[in-house]
Amino acid sequence: MIGLPLDEKITSRRVPHFVVSIVILLTILFGTNLFNILRIELSSSSSSEALCPLFEPIAPVSYLKDNSTVLTILHDEDYKQGSIKKLSGAIQVDTQIFDNQPNVPDAPEVWAKFKNFHKYLEETFPIIYSNLEVTKVNTYGLVYLWKGSNEDLKPLLLTAHQDVVPVQKDTLDDWTYPPFEGHYDGKFIYGRGASDCKNVLIAILETVELLLNQNYHPQRSLLLAFGFDEEASGVVGASAIGKYLEETYGKDSLYAIIDEGPGLAIDDLTGTIVATPGTGEKGYVDIEVQLTTPGGHSSIPPDHTSIGILSELAYIIEKDPYSPILTTKNPTLSYYQCLASHDSKNKIPSFTKKSILRAGYDKFANSKVIQLVQKNRFTKYLVQTSQAIDIIGGGEKANALPEHVRLLVNHRVAIESNVDSVKQHFVERVIQVAKRHNLSVKAYGELVLDTKDNSGVFEVNVFSSPLETAPTTPLNDNVWKHLAGVTRHVFEDLVYPDLDYPIITSPSIMTGNTDTRHYWNLTRNIFRYSPFFDVSFLGSSNVHSVDEKLPFAGHLQLTAFFYEYIQAVDTESANN
Ligand SMILES: *[C@@H]1O[C@H](CO)[C@@H](O)[C@H](O)[C@H]1NC(C)=O
Ligand SMILES: *[C@@H]1O[C@H](CO)[C@@H](O)[C@H](O)[C@H]1NC(C)=O
Ligand SMILES: *[C@@H]1O[C@H](CO)[C@@H](O)[C@H](O)[C@H]1NC(C)=O
Ligand SMILES: [Zn+2]
Repeated sequence: MIGLPLDEKITSRRVPHFVVSIVILLTILFGTNLFNILRIELSSSSSSEALCPLFEPIAPVSYLKDNSTVLTILHDEDYKQGSIKKLSGAIQVDTQIFDNQPNVPDAPEVWAKFKNFHKYLEETFPIIYSNLEVTKVNTYGLVYLWKGSNEDLKPLLLTAHQDVVPVQKDTLDDWTYPPFEGHYDGKFIYGRGASDCKNVLIAILETVELLLNQNYHPQRSLLLAFGFDEEASGVVGASAIGKYLEETYGKDSLYAIIDEGPGLAIDDLTGTIVATPGTGEKGYVDIEVQLTTPGGHSSIPPDHTSIGILSELAYIIEKDPYSPILTTKNPTLSYYQCLASHDSKNKIPSFTKKSILRAGYDKFANSKVIQLVQKNRFTKYLVQTSQAIDIIGGGEKANALPEHVRLLVNHRVAIESNVDSVKQHFVERVIQVAKRHNLSVKAYGELVLDTKDNSGVFEVNVFSSPLETAPTTPLNDNVWKHLAGVTRHVFEDLVYPDLDYPIITSPSIMTGNTDTRHYWNLTRNIFRYSPFFDVSFLGSSNVHSVDEKLPFAGHLQLTAFFYEYIQAVDTESANN
């Protein structure tokens, strides 16, 4: 009998044992990531200074001559009482803003309440109004210019917004103190706008007032800009201000912009106080899909009504989340690398630390860091495009088939992605469902699938104006160095003199979008940064919610920061 060719092979060729061992070893190494793990374990964690240099503290020259004003801001009881009064008064002026408002000339009555706020500012800061040039842009946008003596220095822009989100009527009873009272309870100041962000606006004006009272004359022009519909995307306020500033000063004409944003908090990984200016913002796009199918009586329904079909689409969308991605373009990676480079208490486990330091170029290490970031619900989407099905609607009557149904999905676009690729991906999934049900698809004005059948049509459109991810603020320049240096000076020399480690300034992603979306053309050096200490990055401040409040010590820290920063960068040596 002739054996099968297979049998012969087995008997005639003996594979030596050592070869088998090597194959097994290699399989273990590569098949189980052991090789990747070893590579990380054997790497060094020491050469990390280059990834995130630690800058020396930077104090303005005036501080060395006379530190009394900044100490007054931080510690003087009379100064504090005066400051509480100013912020409380600002909270008392109702500047609630709703979505989708008409432009000012089309509906002046909608915006008239901002007159009261302007009046309050004029009465509270008369010296600013008599010394700075005030321009009203689109009626209620406020731009202040404090002209510097040296035209060669690019102006610095400090910004905040006058408006606040509405207080929902049915939550009024839940507030500990009424939202428009500006109550101070000995530690916190309560009210709508207390932390988002009349605190920033008032701190900026208080700082300028202090400097004017001391006869300060800046070399570098100082601009202040306060929009009035930030909570409705700034389409009426900051958008007009951005245009005005670009027309007046030109593209890339500013030294830096500081807008509302995160400040200082205790970082979970290292247990140290870290400053986290927002240096990037994710993109934004709402996509709406409508499905129109023939109506009819519900006693003779098709197998799937338009509601059923749209539900299938919803199911498919949620089953297919975007993949996470983390590159050196993402401030989140820089953030972790700063922590890993300066883990002064040695709290980060060695393997995690080494993975973070290698994550910019080592694929496996990168995947480990992504896992770390995504373990936490609050940080998960810093490295991933999010999709949330926020609106579904359709159906009118119990005995009638629904003819029109709609679904809206909100996306926050990852730093590494863009609006177009989200739009395309969305349509692919609609087409997938459409094909199953013999439906046509119209996407963004074009017929992309025509079944020549009249069983129905999907229509996909972008709802409200989309926003690309913001240009990332550079970290390797003198402007960043000064921001980090002044932060160290204020918080190490003045606020926490007993601290036994340096305060690291790490870049971060701002999760929402601020008015700076309208200021991209003015400078690359945009910081969403309100440096004061709060217990965690989410803070204790209940932004947009019941009992919005601000630890008042934070307000004083913020003012001290502005006071020192304006002076510290008021010199040619702070230029890029
Ligand atoms: C402020 O200045 C005084 C007088 O020069 C000095 O004694 C003091 O140490 C300074 N305080 C701080 C916090 O720098
Ligand atoms: C889809 O519609 C076309 C045109 O009416 C028809 O010829 C085709 O059979 C339909 N396909 C399915 C799967 O129902
Ligand atoms: C920024 O500049 C570009 C190119 O000139 C222009 O198209 C765009 O409208 C400007 N953006 C803003 C927000 O003004
Ligand atoms: Zn805000």
